[in-house]
Amino acid sequence: MIRVGVIFGGESVEHEVSIISAVQAMNKMDSEKYEVVPIYINKEGEWYTGEFLKEIETFQDMHLLKKYAKNVVLYKRHGSYILQSKGFFRSTVKEIDIAFPIVHGTNVEDGGLQGYLKTIGIPFVGCDVCPAAIGQDKIFQKQIWNSEKLPIPEYTWFFDSEYEENPEEIIKKVEKIKYPVIVKPATLGSSVGINVVHKRNELVEAIEDAIQYDNKILVEEVIENLVEVNVSVVGNHDSQDTSVIEQVLTGNDLLTYDDKYIGGIKKSSASKGMLSASRKIPADIGDKLTNEVKDIAVKAFKALNLSGDVRIDFLIDSKKKKIYINEVNTIPGSLAFYLWEPVGKDYTELLDELINVAIKDYKKRMNKTHSFETNILSGYNGTLKGLKGTKGIKGTKMIK
Ligand SMILES: Nc1ncnc2c1ncn2[C@@H]1O[C@H](COP(=O)(O)OP(=O)(O)O)[C@@H](O)[C@H]1O
Ligand SMILES: [Mg+2]
Repeated sequence: MIRVGVIFGGESVEHEVSIISAVQAMNKMDSEKYEVVPIYINKEGEWYTGEFLKEIETFQDMHLLKKYAKNVVLYKRHGSYILQSKGFFRSTVKEIDIAFPIVHGTNVEDGGLQGYLKTIGIPFVGCDVCPAAIGQDKIFQKQIWNSEKLPIPEYTWFFDSEYEENPEEIIKKVEKIKYPVIVKPATLGSSVGINVVHKRNELVEAIEDAIQYDNKILVEEVIENLVEVNVSVVGNHDSQDTSVIEQVLTGNDLLTYDDKYIGGIKKSSASKGMLSASRKIPADIGDKLTNEVKDIAVKAFKALNLSGDVRIDFLIDSKKKKIYINEVNTIPGSLAFYLWEPVGKDYTELLDELINVAIKDYKKRMNKTHSFETNILSGYNGTLKGLKGTKGIKGTKMIK
């Protein structure tokens, strides 16, 4: 029996969505193979475990949850990964073999949680630290996809401080893209701080809104005749599989050029897919575009060195039949399981596959050299001279 610690919640605006995603997944894991250990991080960043964290009702009363769940820390002891209770009487509450992060948004999905897991050395499902971080930053993604010649909307970006110091220059830079444009904070999800603008005074307003949320601001051309589609990709750098494509139907009226929609995207729920009011599966875009979307999705996945189960979102200009990558969700809502069922992979199988990929990747990583037996500090004599260049000394015996 493999003990899987499903980690969810966290200090993110998508906290509640993560609880729903995690509870769904925990109840679908193959109980013959896996012992599911729920690990809930509350909004204050405290970690809890307890069987009843598998039930959605538990989260309706945080007071009771705190009273009955065990407040724990996850750490490594003698090669095991331990959930230890905090407080005066410390005890081992559970041990886990692998972590399964089902978290959404900043502070957790963005490499924060993955960094902790990697530091203590536990295998975990999904993206490694760097791809997770890039997956949360709409600007980094675009820079990489652009350099791989993958199709993205025309864009520019700047720091909040650059705007504050010299707004005219930034406006000049932005206006090289034709109006309407869309202004976004680089790292937030759920359409917070995102606005479509048609002229300069709206642009100023939108930038001032976006800089409340982030220090990096992205501005893109608005794709017209918009059809929004999403596809899930599962795998790692070696092999990838694509799901059926969904069409997000709420997307269409968000961007009509009527003034009443300025700022109206804020409340849209397109981001996590699962929350969208309506969607069409499979997307009604014809075979040619379907194949093209899948092909670009795989290339986009590889370019960012993603792994696990991600959802890649696209914008299509339906008149020009032109496809643009919009963004990636490295841990999509509901793990996008509903996009796999129509291709014959049920949720239980999908979860099984994700855990297998993670174990395989972990073993592979363990076989790469990452430390040296020589302790360079044993000869340290109080000066730093000569330490440079000891990284990667030739001839030292490697530990695997
Ligand atoms: N370049 C664009 N052209 C047209 N519509 C866009 C563009 N970028 C985003 N949108 C619309 O805004 C929504 C939210 O933007 P997105 O970048 O996906 O942010 P979030 O992380 O909040 O999901 C999209 O689902 C889409 O409806
Ligand atoms: Mg989105």
